[in-house]
Amino acid sequence: MPSGYVWEGFLVYMDEKRKKIKVPDLERKKSQGEKIVMLTAYDYLFARIVDEAGVDIILVGDSLGTVIAGHTSTLPVTLRDIIYHASAVSRGVNYALVVADMPFLSYQVSIKDAKKNCGTVIKETGAAAVKVEGGRAIAKTIRALVDIGIPVMGHVGMTPQSLNKFGGYRVQGKTPDARKKILEDALAVEAAGAFSVVLEAIPSDLAAEITSRLRIPAIGIGAGVQCDGQVIVLHDMLGLFDDFKPVFVKRYANLKDLSLNAIKQYSEEVRNGKFPDEEHSYK
Ligand code: KIV
Repeated sequence: MPSGYVWEGFLVYMDEKRKKIKVPDLERKKSQGEKIVMLTAYDYLFARIVDEAGVDIILVGDSLGTVIAGHTSTLPVTLRDIIYHASAVSRGVNYALVVADMPFLSYQVSIKDAKKNCGTVIKETGAAAVKVEGGRAIAKTIRALVDIGIPVMGHVGMTPQSLNKFGGYRVQGKTPDARKKILEDALAVEAAGAFSVVLEAIPSDLAAEITSRLRIPAIGIGAGVQCDGQVIVLHDMLGLFDDFKPVFVKRYANLKDLSLNAIKQYSEEVRNGKFPDEEHSYK
């Protein structure tokens, strides 16, 4: 058995070799002006692909409620859903930082609940951090989580779990008062000890101002190019989900059509006896 020192040296060597992303690396990336790439994933196979592509942060988003489970919002997602999907994702990842999104009502009821639920997610899934929505209202909870060793990513602006309060997925921060509140939310999240914050669906100039005021990285979604990094839902950017397309979604592939054509071809070949052929049968 190697000594503790040698073993630690070996672990550091392995980590450097794999360039595993750790929470403190993100602030360093910001200070060096290096953009941070974040993407969602919900299962083992896609997590492997996203990780192999060199993405920095994989978010097991509660967006799984819509793109995986077919709900019309993220509100029905449960703690068990997040634990199941974050565990599958973690098993496929060697390099990226895995962040688990905390579902509605798993952290808002009490700080005690938040510690228990976030702690359970970290303990059972292999994720290194959690994400919670909200600014000043959730700052004390963020502080309590960070104090027990759980890294927290904040999320301000258009926070989907507050969909009913906003009356839909609407751009936030359009009036001077709303801008001020979102800036205060982001500053509160940083002051509470979060290691980064998602800025969702706010005007680009507001996102730029917030990004420049924060020490921690601001990751944008529908928040313009000046943020320290960007996040998007995997199924949106791959063109798998095509019910609607928010302005900020860019489709980099059309996997829906590719899948549809492949499945139609398979169906046709089964129906006309072309599949399985000799090559795909045991002798
Ligand atoms: O749930 C999610 O996927 C998210 C990101 C889009 C930020 O919260």
